[in-house]
Amino acid sequence: MTSATTLLKAEQPLQPAMDTRALRNAMGHFATGVTVVTAPGEGNALVGITANSFSSLSLEPPLILWSLSLNSPSLAAFQEGQPFAVNVLCQGQEDLAMQFARASDDKFSGVEYHLNQRQVPLLAHTLAQFECEVAFTRCLGDHLLIVGRVQAFRCQEGEPMLFFKGQFKTLEAVPA
Ligand SMILES: Cc1cc2nc3c(=O)[nH]c(=O)nc-3n(C[C@H](O)[C@H](O)[C@H](O)COP(=O)(O)O)c2cc1C
Repeated sequence: MTSATTLLKAEQPLQPAMDTRALRNAMGHFATGVTVVTAPGEGNALVGITANSFSSLSLEPPLILWSLSLNSPSLAAFQEGQPFAVNVLCQGQEDLAMQFARASDDKFSGVEYHLNQRQVPLLAHTLAQFECEVAFTRCLGDHLLIVGRVQAFRCQEGEPMLFFKGQFKTLEAVPA
């Protein structure tokens, strides 16, 4: 049963999806976790992008998806067959999330990680990790939809980092 304190006020009127800023604001009402997607870049460069568009897609076969802005300088790293990893961040890794959300020539400065066999950087101390290969991409609107086939994964106990209405949040258990 819903407690009185969680009931919301009267619904707002529907508005057409033309005001991009208002739509972005509305999208922010969907709480998500936070990931850093990593991949080998050109030459010895490494790619790392904070992304909350990550979602599970299929168990058989094991597929995940996320989307990358078409403005990203890292687009070339996500062509079919190329390896990448999704690093699910835990509470306390907010600075890391911000480091990978800012354009920089050296996003990995000071970051703890190791390279897997396919030269994908795997960040240390994450809640979960999914090692993937790009299975499918499609430009849709202003983003590239990237579907990854999961090849290996790990996860561990810990508290997640959440993102809601433009702010990092922590998880609070519902009282029994
Ligand atoms: C919490 C959070 C979630 C984000 N999610 C995405 C996302 O899903 N896709 C995306 O393209 N950018 C996302 N961004 C923005 C990118 O992290 C940011 O533009 C970053 O600089 C991209 O790296 P690049 O400059 O190498 O492309 C997110 C930023 C934050 C803070």
